[in-house]
Amino acid sequence: MIFITRQAEFSAAHTLAKPEWSEEENRRVYGDCAHPSGHGHNYTLEVTVAGPVNPETGMLFDLKELKKIMQERVIDQVDHKNLNCDPAFLEGIVPTAENVAVGIYGQLHEALPPGILHRVRLYESPRNYVDYYGPNGGK
Ligand code: NI
Repeated sequence: MIFITRQAEFSAAHTLAKPEWSEEENRRVYGDCAHPSGHGHNYTLEVTVAGPVNPETGMLFDLKELKKIMQERVIDQVDHKNLNCDPAFLEGIVPTAENVAVGIYGQLHEALPPGILHRVRLYESPRNYVDYYGPNGGK
């Protein structure tokens, strides 16, 4: 089994707040991130695909193709956007790093060959990242 990872970056704004909660409740749960005017992050996305190497090509998956899928399915939807209202795939969810990673996984899973998407790692800052291995935890 071989693992290949490709990285991409995007900048986006968000506010962490549930519309059905009061401002005090949101502030209590999400702290400064609940500030209604929003704030931004420079995100780094790492997408790992896994599988056997094709003996004919010597490749697991064409990285040009992975780059294109990440660009079209994710980066074009989120870069310089507001994660609360712009990307259709995040509609109706609070755009925490956890939820955004799950949403990105879904976007990529639909477009990649079955079974090769291993992990989505999303850095919200250089020190904080979340990993998502899919609904079955990568099993
Ligand atoms: Ni934030």
